[in-house]
Amino acid sequence: MVNVLVVGSGGREHALSWKLSQSSKVDTVFTAPGNGGTQNNVSINVDDLDGLADFAQKNNCFTVVGPEDPLAAGIVDKFNKLNLPIFGPSQKAAQLESSKIWAKNFMKRNEIPTARFEIFDDAQKAQEYVKSLDYNVVVKADGLAAGKGVIVCDSNDEALAAIQTILVKKTFGDAGNRIIIEERIDGVEASYIALSDGDVAIPMASSQDHKRIFDNDEGPNTGGMGAYSPTPIIDDDLAKIIQEQIIEKTILAMKNEGILFKGFLYAGIMIRDGKPYVLEYNVRMGDPECQPITMRMDFDLYDYFAASVDGRLSSLPPASWKSQFAVCVVLASKGYPESYSKNDEISGFDSIPKGSFVFHAGTKKSDGKIFSNGGRVLGVTALGDTLRSAIANAYSATQKITWSQKYYRRDIGKKGLSYL
Ligand SMILES: Nc1ncnc2c1ncn2[C@@H]1O[C@H](COP(=O)(O)OP(=O)(O)O)[C@@H](O)[C@H]1O
Ligand SMILES: [Mg+2]
Repeated sequence: MVNVLVVGSGGREHALSWKLSQSSKVDTVFTAPGNGGTQNNVSINVDDLDGLADFAQKNNCFTVVGPEDPLAAGIVDKFNKLNLPIFGPSQKAAQLESSKIWAKNFMKRNEIPTARFEIFDDAQKAQEYVKSLDYNVVVKADGLAAGKGVIVCDSNDEALAAIQTILVKKTFGDAGNRIIIEERIDGVEASYIALSDGDVAIPMASSQDHKRIFDNDEGPNTGGMGAYSPTPIIDDDLAKIIQEQIIEKTILAMKNEGILFKGFLYAGIMIRDGKPYVLEYNVRMGDPECQPITMRMDFDLYDYFAASVDGRLSSLPPASWKSQFAVCVVLASKGYPESYSKNDEISGFDSIPKGSFVFHAGTKKSDGKIFSNGGRVLGVTALGDTLRSAIANAYSATQKITWSQKYYRRDIGKKGLSYL
């Protein structure tokens, strides 16, 4: 039996620790720093790599990293040096996410389909370039910017302003020292996640996130207001194309460049005229996508994590999935993604029906009660035999949870229904 340490504190980490704790090979699952829903919380922050390594060593832990920041900071390299088992990509492999420029150049030299682009560090040159184009663009800061460093532009003027924001005003600090200006691809967006050991990549599941705060994709971007899996937007034929021409090609190209990619490889995909383009890579599970995907897993997740670390995924049976759909509705605090209140008591957890599960994100537990502690507070996740019934089940469970500041989108999954 092994102990597991899950690093992070969101809905993704609650879902991972929930699933890992069901493994017959896993003893105790610790979460650092965790939230009001996770068990065995350890108060070490995700950027305290020494503290995490120390804890993992003392408690004989297999470590699983949820968020991108510690991966980009080299947590896997550090643990490897200390001979501590850890699931996730090395710092070099994490460049697929931590430098959008590195990723775009990688895709270009390996002929992985992505929007055409140029790179700039000089605002004037960038502006001249935009003026010379006859299509709309997206302006992206190179580095990690907590999901805020991408500006999708509707006009030349917006693109010029975006260049000012990132390169001149430095709104995203050093993450914006260089920018990508790329063609805006108008299509349908979906996510595709696989699990790799550096050699082979096992498809996890397709999913679709809902980034904007309001229904019908209006209002500002958020960390994600809900997700469902699988998405009918990616049918079997398209899944095969993405698996072979994007995921496996990426893993092989990384290997050929001397970088073994171990961990979750997440491709953000835009589909235009039936053809998939990579908008970005993430080197970890998405949140909220992790929540519906985890609920559909019909296999021992620990086995696959351990095999990824040891480079023996090809010896495992294909991952089996519940045939049901899963839908996750994120409950946020009113006002998010701007200002919102915290410390509001939340109730109703005892009335959640079977087949649904409430993953915690921005919550904390005090005297046995649950209080809000962040913008995205809970992920109410439910299974259903059809997408429509999974949506109905998720919303019915959503009604059981009450607090004064509860806000959620009413249309999670609706985009998928139109494809069925
Ligand atoms: N080339 C593009 N064409 C159209 N939309 C894009 C393009 N690149 C990004 N986007 C939109 O911007 C969002 C954020 O961009 P992404 O590259 O995923 O960065 P991040 O998740 O780091 O903010 C995407 O989910 C997508 O909706
Ligand atoms: Mg993204």
